Amino acid sequence: MTQRIRLSGVSKEFTVNGTKSMALDDINLTVNAGEIYGLIGRSGAGKSTLLRTINGLERPSSGKVFVDGVDIGALDANELRELRRRIGMVFQQFGLWNSRTVYGNIATPLKLAGWKSQAIRNRVAELLDFVGLGGKAFARPRQLSGGQKQRVGIARAIANNPSILLADEATSALDPQTTTEIVDLLRSVNDQLGITIVVVTHEMDVIGRLADRVSILSDGRVVETGDIHQILAQPNHPVSGALVGPYTRTALTEGEKSSLRNQFRGRRISVAVGQHLDDDPVISRLARQHHIDFTIIQGAVARVKDQPYGQLNLALLGDAADLDRFVTELADRVVVTEW
Ligand SMILES: Nc1ncnc2c1ncn2[C@@H]1O[C@H](COP(=O)(O)OP(=O)(O)OP(=O)(O)O)[C@@H](O)[C@H]1O
Ligand SMILES: [Mg+2]
Repeated sequence: MTQRIRLSGVSKEFTVNGTKSMALDDINLTVNAGEIYGLIGRSGAGKSTLLRTINGLERPSSGKVFVDGVDIGALDANELRELRRRIGMVFQQFGLWNSRTVYGNIATPLKLAGWKSQAIRNRVAELLDFVGLGGKAFARPRQLSGGQKQRVGIARAIANNPSILLADEATSALDPQTTTEIVDLLRSVNDQLGITIVVVTHEMDVIGRLADRVSILSDGRVVETGDIHQILAQPNHPVSGALVGPYTRTALTEGEKSSLRNQFRGRRISVAVGQHLDDDPVISRLARQHHIDFTIIQGAVARVKDQPYGQLNLALLGDAADLDRFVTELADRVVVTEW
């Protein structure tokens, strides 16, 4: 796998009124070409500072940042400008120029990069189409909704065909429906254009729908890095647990279980739903085979990066021996807990 970004021992210290504080403390991480990498953490964790070290807007106090194998700390001003052309960035507050039209916003970075006017016109039309704003070229930012402004922000950020897009809380100012649309657009930027994306957010839901891999930041440190499915299934650090908890809270509490025990007598089980259920309808297959019935009494199944993730609670009905066989065989395939 090609490494697109690598941070090696990156620390950043700020001094405010003579007091020093560490915004980043020995960060090591690698982002591969073509992936969507999530950085999640609470406010003040250092997410924006980390993102800004990747395009050289923030210089580490120590450690190195490599983009496509090049140590960006060693670049001169011209080379740094060249690097920033290969790295687009989108922001929570969109960062549009309010006095310019949508067209002007998207055309500006192309002009700065020396594109010819006909090429700019073609490129802006193509970008507007890509982000779904075909008819809005001559609108002003104040005439657009938040979601439309972010589409302009994304079009502008990818105008120069960057290889990397940095998204700093790109959906945090948007309602849930608009967030979904922007999440989909970012996914197209990744799959259709092959742009590597680093997404910073405090919204686990956004990370769950976008990121392949995630680092969890707390007080300037990476406390955990891993595959999104692995972190959701088994967060190893209390900060990770606190972030993923509300998103994955599908388990029943003891109180809920005791009232459900009165309502559904007989055997009750929790079944962990994961990617293995995609190609084998194991619950219904075994139920049919062993002549048992079940009622779904509670559950939640989310799609995390295109795979199911969650838990179902079932009340089982059938003959005792059949139920035993059903539970045993099901437990060979998925995690089953009886309660
Ligand atoms: N230019 C600066 N000068 C001084 N301190 C700074 C500066 N930029 C960031 N910090 C401090 O560094 C720490 C990390 O800030 P940062 O903005 O990276 O956090 P964040 O995770 O992006 O938070 P949020 O979710 O609120 O955006 C904070 O304590 C912040 O006050
Ligand atoms: Mg921030």
